[in-house]
Amino acid sequence: MILLAPSILSADFAALGAEVAEAEASGADWIHVDVMDGHFVPNITLGPPIVKAVKAHTSLPLDVHLMIENPERYIAEFAAAGASVITVHAEACVHLHRVVHQIKELGIMAGVAINPGTPASAVREVLEDVDMVLVMTVNPGFGGQAFIPNAMRKIRQIREWANEINHSNLRIEVDGGVAENTAPIVAEAGADVLVAGNAVFGRTDRAAAIRAIREAAEG
Ligand code: DX5
Ligand code: ZN
Repeated sequence: MILLAPSILSADFAALGAEVAEAEASGADWIHVDVMDGHFVPNITLGPPIVKAVKAHTSLPLDVHLMIENPERYIAEFAAAGASVITVHAEACVHLHRVVHQIKELGIMAGVAINPGTPASAVREVLEDVDMVLVMTVNPGFGGQAFIPNAMRKIRQIREWANEINHSNLRIEVDGGVAENTAPIVAEAGADVLVAGNAVFGRTDRAAAIRAIREAAEG
């Protein structure tokens, strides 16, 4: 089953409660929350207090994407704020295996993300430990950027490795430039969690936007 995770990066930050409630009513499966620290990526967004505030307005799982350095310092706080999934970047973790287990010990899903310039092999040694791999289809930092297709080869490779180790419930998420036109390509490659910022919150009819992406992905 393909999950749709609208990214609140493209929502109205002054009306986040109403925005996530509308996304939920419009058929979203998860709410994707982009956390940026101005170091790992050239943008600053939000922290645990906002995650906690958003949590009060939706019953959907919060999918927290940490684009921050030293993520191990903040994982407990984001989990306490209501995250159901925490994803850290492989590029930001010297001790990736330890960080993944730190997330899992909190009883939530653990994800590892890789940038467009990072090979699939960066997640190979933790694949059996994670619940999700996030393959970035833009260089993280901003919404509304153009889709980078080299990720398709990586998604296929990761799905193949997951099959080899019988990790059939591994989720593969894609993030960046996902819309009606790119959803079929990523789904065909083996991704099953689709993040969409601009393509959902940039439209006035969010239900129609979510439906269109889902239908395109499911073929
Ligand atoms: C990019 C973020 C994405 C972003 C995607 O740095 O991680 O989640 O919101 O936005 P769109 O779908 O507009 O490319
Ligand atoms: Zn993201």
